[in-house]
Amino acid sequence: MVQEGQATASRVVLETRDVGKQYQLDGVEVNALRDVSIAIRAGEMVSIMGPSGSGKSTLMHIVGLLDRPTCGEVILEGDDISNLSPNQLAELRNKYIGFVFQSFNLLSRTSAQANVELPLVYAGVSGVDRSHRAIEALERVGLGNRLGHFSSQLSGGQQQRVAIARALVNSPSIVLADEPTGNLDSRSGIEVMAILQDLNAQGITVVLVTHDDRVARHAQRVIRVFDGRVQSQEAVENRVIAAQELRDLPAEEVAG
Ligand SMILES: Nc1ncnc2c1ncn2[C@@H]1O[C@H](COP(=O)(O)OP(=O)(O)O)[C@@H](O)[C@H]1O
Ligand SMILES: [Mg+2]
Repeated sequence: MVQEGQATASRVVLETRDVGKQYQLDGVEVNALRDVSIAIRAGEMVSIMGPSGSGKSTLMHIVGLLDRPTCGEVILEGDDISNLSPNQLAELRNKYIGFVFQSFNLLSRTSAQANVELPLVYAGVSGVDRSHRAIEALERVGLGNRLGHFSSQLSGGQQQRVAIARALVNSPSIVLADEPTGNLDSRSGIEVMAILQDLNAQGITVVLVTHDDRVARHAQRVIRVFDGRVQSQEAVENRVIAAQELRDLPAEEVAG
């Protein structure tokens, strides 16, 4: 299916086999996903692209273990996780996966550092350790100088970087980002893409959901979905490099 036969291909970390998802809405059945089989390899950066309503978020929630498929299998690191309990799923999620959402999902009257520490609070990590790890994650996204700022005092781009730091604080091997630039001005969006490409270059597997072709082309591979089905999968030619885009932006523009 994907990159078959490549001797150098890395292992599959995340896979769906014939996944379907149906919702009942006012007695009407909605087929959000049908026969979706995809495989994500370690170290890849992949975009899932499709128009609004095509099933991207549903697929992201399923591969992120936030939701279960109606049928089919989800395989994480070689293990079929379809029949695990909610607690077991939560444990795997904390261990392997970091999420970034379009709307940041930060607590507004809470400092950047406290927002990033939150997953560690749930994981029972001690105070000093929490603080070190949160500061390190915020430094990694260029916000080491904004630790005490409330989310409400930060720009949209900065808030999304806090959300990325929060996704990183558990040292996930996979980052899933659902329309991470959807609420941002173009420069902030490019900055976020630069961070995601940077994390990928450091070995983190990145799966990005977008309806935007240019955003999608920051990945190495694009999986196109339409009407809940995988339409095509192809390698990206002329991949967009966000760091280069930032260099090409007019100098007088100030970061948002
Ligand atoms: N909780 C839900 N209940 C009923 N229908 C839903 C629910 N979530 C999504 N859908 C439907 O499933 C389809 C795919 O939605 P979604 O995965 O959000 O698409 P996308 O993220 O590509 O915009 C849409 O038709 C949407 O209306
Ligand atoms: Mg969506």
